[in-house]
Amino acid sequence: MLIHSASQLLTLQGGPQRGPDLGTLGLIENGAVLVRDGEIAAIGQTPTLLAAHPDEPRLDASGSVVLPGLVDPHTHLVWAGDRAAEFEMKMAGAHYLDILAAGGGILSTVRASRAASPEALLEQTRARARRMFAHGTTTVEAKTGYGLETESEQKLLQTLLALDAEGPLEIVPTFLGAHAVAPEYRTDPQGYTDLICSEMLPSVLAWWHSQPALAGRPLPFVDVFCENQAFDLKQSKQILTKAKELGFPLKIHADEFDNLGGTSLGVELGAASADHLVKTSAADIAALGRSETVAVSLPCTPFGLAEREYTPARAILEAGGILAVATDCNPGTAWNESMQFVIALACRALKLTPAQAIAAATINAAHAIRRADRVGSLEPGKQADLLILDVPDYRQLGYRFGTNLVRSVVKRGRVFAVNGETVQSA
Ligand code: NIG
Ligand code: FE
Repeated sequence: MLIHSASQLLTLQGGPQRGPDLGTLGLIENGAVLVRDGEIAAIGQTPTLLAAHPDEPRLDASGSVVLPGLVDPHTHLVWAGDRAAEFEMKMAGAHYLDILAAGGGILSTVRASRAASPEALLEQTRARARRMFAHGTTTVEAKTGYGLETESEQKLLQTLLALDAEGPLEIVPTFLGAHAVAPEYRTDPQGYTDLICSEMLPSVLAWWHSQPALAGRPLPFVDVFCENQAFDLKQSKQILTKAKELGFPLKIHADEFDNLGGTSLGVELGAASADHLVKTSAADIAALGRSETVAVSLPCTPFGLAEREYTPARAILEAGGILAVATDCNPGTAWNESMQFVIALACRALKLTPAQAIAAATINAAHAIRRADRVGSLEPGKQADLLILDVPDYRQLGYRFGTNLVRSVVKRGRVFAVNGETVQSA
């Protein structure tokens, strides 16, 4: 299939885009993409590719921006129920961590998710995955973390893998048994930390290796919520060090509400990313600037909690850091499924240009989940994951918010129409 006549084709080739390089779009006017067997076979200008491949089935993208499928590198996609009542309490003045300390917050979603049947969990999670895909996310990282006991965490992980197998949204799983201290260990957080290390991580590893369908697939990430009321720096280090010994790639939730030193810990342990980064210190920013650890900002979280402080994104860029953005989609702080909205918010709250926000939501986001060899940019040999937008100028992304600008989503070369339009299929 030849997708041709795009008013602007954004390749985002190369990368990761570090510091001041962020925002390099690789823009081709009147661009075309040749898709073969689910992969990108060639990229160039329309007249050249049409002349070289005259008999190829065609998909006309005139008047459209074509860009890589958006990559959402931090979500808590799998949960049951909702927390609308807590949202109301928070808007009336209650604080997120106080609700958690009182047994609500994450723990209320843990109760609902433990109680949900695998079928109900799959159905609720699938609905979110479909909306994400329709809004242009073609690859999503998704964390467990609402089970907090070996079997329930396993149920969440298997839900994510089942959904990934269904497609079309591609799911990169993360084990977040360290999302909160399990209710059974309320008075013994160290006991729960030890349980994660001695039982949960080894059992995830053994299960993963026992599954023929997962052979050859990279291990899931292991993540920790390093925060007051969750895991302190020492416990976070214990969990991540154990995970690293077992061969898991790492991530860390750091500096969402308080600075505990989690960002520098993530850098020290070679984590793929450190995420949230609101209360990040100058020393942490300098550490990010020198490292391969991607700084993942989640602007929907302060927005969702009606807080004023956001990631110091410009300082991270000045230090030379690799910046990405994500939804953080979760029932407590940010139930948002649209990376288009994240791009719009990132422009305003993080002071990014549309081009910078797009790079942060594609190629740099792919690096944050270590999948940049397959997704995040349009380059020959990569997966044919791309979006055809209803608009001719990329700056409409960011400028506009609250409506879906995606006309069609192409995942591994298959065309999916959005907004009820019929699009010619390959
Ligand atoms: O990233 N910080 C911890 N986890 C989520 C919130 C999860 C929840 O409240 O259910 C976050 O903001
Ligand atoms: Fe999170």
